[in-house]
Amino acid sequence: MTHLRLNPSILSADFVNLEAELQRIASADAVHVDVMDNHFVPNLTLGLPIVRRIQQVSPLPLDVHLMIEDADRWAPAYAESGAASVTFHAEAAAAPVRLARELRDAGAKAGMALRPATPVEPYLDMLGELDLLLVMTVEPGFGGQSFLDLTLPKIRRAAEAVRGADLPLVIQVDGGITEETILRAADAGATVFVAGSSVYGADDAAAAITALRAAAARTA
Ligand code: DX5
Ligand code: ZN
Repeated sequence: MTHLRLNPSILSADFVNLEAELQRIASADAVHVDVMDNHFVPNLTLGLPIVRRIQQVSPLPLDVHLMIEDADRWAPAYAESGAASVTFHAEAAAAPVRLARELRDAGAKAGMALRPATPVEPYLDMLGELDLLLVMTVEPGFGGQSFLDLTLPKIRRAAEAVRGADLPLVIQVDGGITEETILRAADAGATVFVAGSSVYGADDAAAAITALRAAAARTA
């Protein structure tokens, strides 16, 4: 059976009490950290100094999602900060192959993200350079949006390409993941699930993590 992973997004956490908020999700696989620069997306969150501090206090490895312009310039420092994985957007990278190699050289898993309307096909030949492909299931920028079913065929096509080439890369989905939608994403071939509001919006975050994992495993 495929190993399914659940990474809560702290975008929906209380940013003034981050250390306690990290403890609430200690049973998850990793903490998903959304970095936004107010240019690539119309929202602003946090940057390298805070990611470094989260790294120091987090009981979980960091899964950093960079929604920033000029990823070639800024992403390597996040890998050097000790993040387990660093994901840049294909739309924001001038040289994605070179950048993926730099991230791996810095000791992180290399991730690349696609906005909902960005096709995977132009990137099929470089999947071997990646450890993670993030198929955004909402337009990036905000938590609490509805899952876009139009992304399911892309997840399926990416999963087929990964299987066909026998690559170790995993497919991550992010946006609108709930107990209802996670099943469709898992069925299409995703194995790593990011969930913000459905974990942090729950009274019992640990119970929400367990329920999401169980819902995803129904088809896997
Ligand atoms: C959105 C972020 C997501 C966000 C997901 O751009 O990349 O990680 O936290 O939030 P939900 O799970 O509420 O859709
Ligand atoms: Zn994210």
